[in-house]
Amino acid sequence: MKRIVIFASGNGTNAQRIIDHFKGRTDAQVVQVLSNNKDAKVLERANLSKISAISFNRIALYKTDDVLHLLKASKPDLIVLAGFLWLFPEKIINAFPDSIINIHPALLPDFGGKGMYGMHVHKAVYAFAKANSHQKNYTGITIHKVTPEYDKGAFIFQTKVEVTEKDTTDTIADKVHALEHEYFPLVIEKLLKTP
Ligand code: GAR
Repeated sequence: MKRIVIFASGNGTNAQRIIDHFKGRTDAQVVQVLSNNKDAKVLERANLSKISAISFNRIALYKTDDVLHLLKASKPDLIVLAGFLWLFPEKIINAFPDSIINIHPALLPDFGGKGMYGMHVHKAVYAFAKANSHQKNYTGITIHKVTPEYDKGAFIFQTKVEVTEKDTTDTIADKVHALEHEYFPLVIEKLLKTP
């Protein structure tokens, strides 16, 4: 059985989708959810699904090897960043080569990098579309490998959706979330099946 560990910082609707997608299966399962925010709803979601849910602080992630040791004990085949907002440490990336993926709520390389997360991304996409209303505008999702830089790793999957004149920042966020929920579990499944 392939083991998935999820990192998330907040609500965790993507984590929930992934947990539900693999629930009761024998080929792959989410075995742990880790969060940098002890009050994150994602931890509650994991608890409700009877999945190990642990929070950690900056020291445990960056200064000591606590999170690294925790992960080594969990033996993940795939580490999934699903709304994880801190920079992923190089020592963990090196310990799990080619096994860490992230989802970004836009079409990278546009609207990526430090500070570009969650609603900040959708606000920037909205502002761009407004400034370019004479042309067709798109947003979408990018699932990519994780490297020590924000949003820089090789793309695994992208899909887009049109941004129309009627869209607001909120409707853009809803459209992107819908794409994430539809495709992220399927991309993970395919990745785990690829030798
Ligand atoms: C998702 O839209 C994800 O793409 C984004 O955070 C959201 C988390 O939503 N991630 C980033 O912006 C990372 N740069 P969720 O908590 O409902 O899954």
